[in-house]
Amino acid sequence: MIRIDEGVDEKTGARIGQKTNENTGERSDSQAQGAQGAQRFHLQTRHTSYIFMVDDYEKLNHLYYGPRLEDESLEALQLHPIKELGSQVLYRKGDGLSSQDQRLLEFSEPQTGDYRVSGCDIRVGKRQATDFRYVGFALGISPPEGLPRGHGADAEDQLAITLEDRVTGIDCVLYYTVFPEADVIMRTVEVVNSSEETCLLAALAITLDMMNRNFELTDFHGGWAREASMQRRPLAVGRTAIASLTGASSNQHNPGFFLSEKGADEERGLVYGGNLIYSGNHKTMIERTPHELIRVTSGINDETFSWPLAPGERFASPSLALTCGTGFNGASGNFHRFVNHHIVPPYWDGRERPVLFNHWEGTFFDYNEAKLVKLAREARDLGAELFVLDDGWFKNRNNDLAGLSNYEVDRQKFPRGLAHFFAKLKGMGLECGIWVEPEMISVDSDLYRAHPDYALGYALGGGRDLRFGRNQLVLDLTKPEVREYIVEQVSGLIDTYDISYVKWDMNRHISDVGEAGSLEDRSFHHRYILGLYEVLGRIFGPKPHVLLETCSSGGNRFDLGMLSYGPQIWSSDNTDPISRLEIQGGLSYLYPPSTMGAHVAGGASQQTLRQSPLSTRFNVAAFGVLGYEMDLANLTAIEKKEIEAQIFWYKAHRSTLQFGTFRRQNRERLNLYTWQVGSAKETIVGKFQTLAEAAPPQDRLQVLGLSPQARYRVVARPQRVMIERFGELVKHVFPRKINPNGLIFHTAAKHYALQDQTQEVEASGTLLDYGLWLHSQFLGTGYDPGLRLWGDFGSTLYLVTPLTPLGGEGIGKNP
Ligand code: DGJ
Repeated sequence: MIRIDEGVDEKTGARIGQKTNENTGERSDSQAQGAQGAQRFHLQTRHTSYIFMVDDYEKLNHLYYGPRLEDESLEALQLHPIKELGSQVLYRKGDGLSSQDQRLLEFSEPQTGDYRVSGCDIRVGKRQATDFRYVGFALGISPPEGLPRGHGADAEDQLAITLEDRVTGIDCVLYYTVFPEADVIMRTVEVVNSSEETCLLAALAITLDMMNRNFELTDFHGGWAREASMQRRPLAVGRTAIASLTGASSNQHNPGFFLSEKGADEERGLVYGGNLIYSGNHKTMIERTPHELIRVTSGINDETFSWPLAPGERFASPSLALTCGTGFNGASGNFHRFVNHHIVPPYWDGRERPVLFNHWEGTFFDYNEAKLVKLAREARDLGAELFVLDDGWFKNRNNDLAGLSNYEVDRQKFPRGLAHFFAKLKGMGLECGIWVEPEMISVDSDLYRAHPDYALGYALGGGRDLRFGRNQLVLDLTKPEVREYIVEQVSGLIDTYDISYVKWDMNRHISDVGEAGSLEDRSFHHRYILGLYEVLGRIFGPKPHVLLETCSSGGNRFDLGMLSYGPQIWSSDNTDPISRLEIQGGLSYLYPPSTMGAHVAGGASQQTLRQSPLSTRFNVAAFGVLGYEMDLANLTAIEKKEIEAQIFWYKAHRSTLQFGTFRRQNRERLNLYTWQVGSAKETIVGKFQTLAEAAPPQDRLQVLGLSPQARYRVVARPQRVMIERFGELVKHVFPRKINPNGLIFHTAAKHYALQDQTQEVEASGTLLDYGLWLHSQFLGTGYDPGLRLWGDFGSTLYLVTPLTPLGGEGIGKNP
């Protein structure tokens, strides 16, 4: 909801009148009316308030962002600027309170005496636009199209405010979109060149000024196979940047961030979050001033950006999603609801995702139709619903040296063509998925031979070496003919083979951008992203039912922009479940489980060489969109049985696992992680151990967010422990002496496994919130069916179901 207070008694704060404007459309008389009357704007979500006002200098002053308020006086809300400090520059001559440096602003420009990081750099000839003043507001105006933004907001939750720089004639429009149920406020800024000259936009960002609350800053950095490592540190006085220059939102620095009160944890403390809806080079600057003001600016990275605007043209920034909640789980939960309901394509809002099988880690490039059909049958028998044909299916693609940009099937691998292969899959009852990497080109490809100019770097001309990443070049998506080629090829594939899932990969950073050096034209990176969004929109817009999983060497482009086109992203090329605790755990701060591709891979991790139990590989992947990615031919009979049981269990609880309310529990020990996900039907708690300790401490099971008086049944998911894990300790388990290196043992291990402990108990919501004791772990004192056989990398999932129907919100209510 948006409330606009028309006139406020400066002394008492009493409202003189309140108006909820109708849609006033473009700048018009009625908007001008708003300009005279409106003084204070109060944006309310279910649990938060965001308030700002027009001040005496016609500037927009930020007043408050935090837990929801109803009516507060201006006196109570406003910052009292410091009166004329030495060396300070005054905005209005003789007015000692007018320094812009000491105010909280909704938009910030250079040269006004505000020395914090600025939200814009707009040049008109030799002048700069430096003084944006309030013109008017309009309700019911959505932010401009052309970039992905949160969808589904009601007209009454959308506000546009126009500012004007009277000297240059440049206008800025600030858009505020309120998502009440998600507790998210989305902000966008647009520059309108109403002058008579072409202007150059050298920087444009959204500005959020706040009171410092002894903030700590959390962000997510990493690299290939190590995405989204969370880092939290005190916010020091000065500026900290979270930025990417790789051409993508990047695995180096995810655009999402949090500012939390010192001492906040998963459940307590005020936590603010921000995430830019953008997939290219981004920059968020967080500044803490010596006077304890906080400024956040967020937008396209200005180090690789500039944009010429002809008279009459407009340029809109990517949108910034902002939230505020109690504890990190509160803020994450808000983002999760926002992503599920307002970011992913509406067709996938709450729609369950299939369990898929992908052959990549099992075969790499070494496969043919017969091998894949065998794998597919095996996967189908185990319960998979979708088969993904990964890299290597097209001509000249037997390694990563050649073939990218070809879409013609490799007849050596598929002698009877892809139609024949997919028909076989469909005959087995499987849905068909295919891998593509449409933004890339190999030099050894027909397209490159015909059109070397399609590749980035071509424009650099002779004399310079091209830079390769994974032996490939990047297609220039700013060229219409390149976009046409991609749309035609990928749409053609989907239509010809009736494909229901596409994995859209992108395996290198961008380099060799010819114009990057000149300030006048640093538009390439943004135009590339616009080209990408256009292509994705044209291919998948008309085919919303095709499930698009984007990927960029794993999670190199895990952002809200990509999620606007495809509802899930391959989180990482690292499928080791212990690494995934950090990767999925890190991503979970910003993105819900329904967005995270998570696969069970083979026993020895391809990325870390770590051996982890099959149960843990599943238990971690179950907190995402489940898939399997291994050579099924290597599985033993007992492993197959176990996988079949896992998939069966996942399907039974899929809706909760993918769309329930997810929470990370505070970590009590460094080697333990606890996650839970709950719906009105059930809650699932996962407890995961990294390295085992000798004589380990007693563990407890806590389940948060249940109804205190209701009673619940808690059951550990049945899982098996492979006996090969025991080596010579098998003597504790088997009544007869057996050689752990002998044939009998290895043969037995293929068919026989130990049942891990089961624990079943009934308890009230209150007790579960307090915590109950779990069975002890293996202690070296022999095998007992009541022991949790965890060891290194052990884990268990606990299913918590209400014994009596709960009605209403039931269990797992939102934090
Ligand atoms: C990188 C992806 O992240 C992998 O899953 C796989 O699809 C390979 N590319 C194929 O080249």
